[in-house]
Amino acid sequence: MALPDEFFDQIRQANDIVTVMSGYARLKKAGRDYTCLCPFHSEKTPSCHVYTDSQSFYCFGCGLGGDVITFTRLTENLDYMGAVRLIAERSGIPVPEDGEDGEKAKAELRKRSRIYEMNKLAAKFFVNNLLSEEGKAGLAFLRERGLNDNTIRKYGLGYAADSWDSLKRHMNLHGYGDAEMIEASLLKQNERGNIYDMFRGRVMFPVIDRLKNIIAFSGRIVNDDGKSGKYVNSATTPVYTKGKHLFSINFAKNSKKDCVILCEGNMDAVTLNQAGFDNAVAILGTALTPEQVRNELRFYWEGKKAVIAYDCDKAGAKATEKTIGMLNQAGMSAKVLELRGAKDPDDYIKMFGAESFATLVDKSIPVISFKLNQFKENADTDTPEGRADYLRKAVEFLSEINNQYERRVYVSELAEDCKVSVDWIEEQIGAKRKSNRYFQQKDDRKALLKSTTKRDEINPDSNRFPAEVRAENGIIAFLFHSPDKLPLILRRLNPVDFPTVFNRKLFETLILRLTKRQSIDISSLGGEFSAEEVGRIKKVKIDNADLPFTDERLNDYINVLVELKQKANKKTSDEMTNEEALEYINKRVKRGG
Ligand code: GTP
Ligand code: MN
Repeated sequence: MALPDEFFDQIRQANDIVTVMSGYARLKKAGRDYTCLCPFHSEKTPSCHVYTDSQSFYCFGCGLGGDVITFTRLTENLDYMGAVRLIAERSGIPVPEDGEDGEKAKAELRKRSRIYEMNKLAAKFFVNNLLSEEGKAGLAFLRERGLNDNTIRKYGLGYAADSWDSLKRHMNLHGYGDAEMIEASLLKQNERGNIYDMFRGRVMFPVIDRLKNIIAFSGRIVNDDGKSGKYVNSATTPVYTKGKHLFSINFAKNSKKDCVILCEGNMDAVTLNQAGFDNAVAILGTALTPEQVRNELRFYWEGKKAVIAYDCDKAGAKATEKTIGMLNQAGMSAKVLELRGAKDPDDYIKMFGAESFATLVDKSIPVISFKLNQFKENADTDTPEGRADYLRKAVEFLSEINNQYERRVYVSELAEDCKVSVDWIEEQIGAKRKSNRYFQQKDDRKALLKSTTKRDEINPDSNRFPAEVRAENGIIAFLFHSPDKLPLILRRLNPVDFPTVFNRKLFETLILRLTKRQSIDISSLGGEFSAEEVGRIKKVKIDNADLPFTDERLNDYINVLVELKQKANKKTSDEMTNEEALEYINKRVKRGG
């Protein structure tokens, strides 16, 4: 049974899109509406628009758009009914009995809340372990790492006993089954079918999201035998996606400090927090991802900076470089903290104290200086070849800085460092920039060429029918604007006269809905079309919004498609082979045309 339109209206009304989206992006008022940096792709300037009147959003950068249901699907990784259920329940609106889809959605949400429950119970179990005889080794480890009782309690740190099934037995007693615990990544099953605890002999760091749900665990080995990995982290589950969350965000998001400190290790984040740096987060075992930047960092620290405090080794420097690029793409400014004489922030605090670390944060260097330092460190500056190598890389890099004042400052520093004249470097940079410009223009032309011949993933037929697609789009935009024109259109056109499959389906859907007196609001199309497709439909509507909605224009569009039909008809009689003609006639018969 399909749900009534009134129900959808009701949940849309109860979940104002501006309020919902404010939980995921910083909305800025623009007239009656709002703009924000798109939560779904990396960008520096806002191209996502939120329309209060139509209660919808549309990103001009990536083409995603829709209503609050589509938005929830995208952010929560749910299917259509899952999103409907989630927002209905959030606003206390009962969902009418709704058949198979509804049952699936209900089951999905039940599963999620069950995983939260399991994680909570497991976390309590780990905490109790830590404070019992069994957890002595774990507690000793944490104390030895300098953590005090308050910090241990604050983070809910615990201990998973060195046993194959202690968590399993505890959870079974509380009514949780093995299968659901495997899905929650608390248990594992090997090829022989044996089921056992995922975390054994480890101190446990619960990963807590901004809504205070325990979504995963990270377990650090206590007695490192060199055989098992130092850390074991939860696998991806229905509530946890690797690379989407940051450890300690639940504390850092409330920090009053003006920057966020990004570190690699959980231990770094905890130690920093204990030392007063409540703005520290850790990246949980993967390289920083664009999702982490968009969902967590940029959301809480937009317009502020991220201080990268990765490990002081080759891998750390490499990761720093990648992270700089990632932050840059999302329009966040970054600085790099230079750790000297310690391997990571945790180590540094222990050796030199919190005050000294605070100075490092203040003195963290711009990314350009970091890059220049890297060139120097990676070159063998004891030899003339090595020094030349450093100078060449540095000059090439500086030539890409567009701001001439900024460039000049670094040029002076480099000149002094390499004992060459400023003029000489400027001359090199001038030549480099000239040739860069030449290649840039060539690349631009190539990119332009490529983009015009690019495949259209949503409507793949559009390349074959460029003029017809414009007409189809025009007709569809007309229908959205004035549904009463449907009879006029149908007098001359059938859905089969739409040559592109995507637009044909859309046209059919609109006809069906209009004849059943259902809404054709774009936001109501989420059941029939994917989020990307809904985005496209929205774009078609917006692209046509400023054109006049006159019968004349509508007729022009219809004529384009009618002409195509006539051409095909003509081909039937004049040019078709017998087989083609037969096939054509069969098709017409089936369509009843
Ligand atoms: P210690 O100071 O050595 O206790 O650890 P740390 O917290 O400083 O971690 P480290 O800098 O060695 O590693 C950074 C992060 O990478 C950790 O917090 C883990 O999330 C992840 N990681 C490290 N080792 C492993 C491993 O063996 N397996 C997995 N899956 N992740 C790891
Ligand atoms: Mn460490």
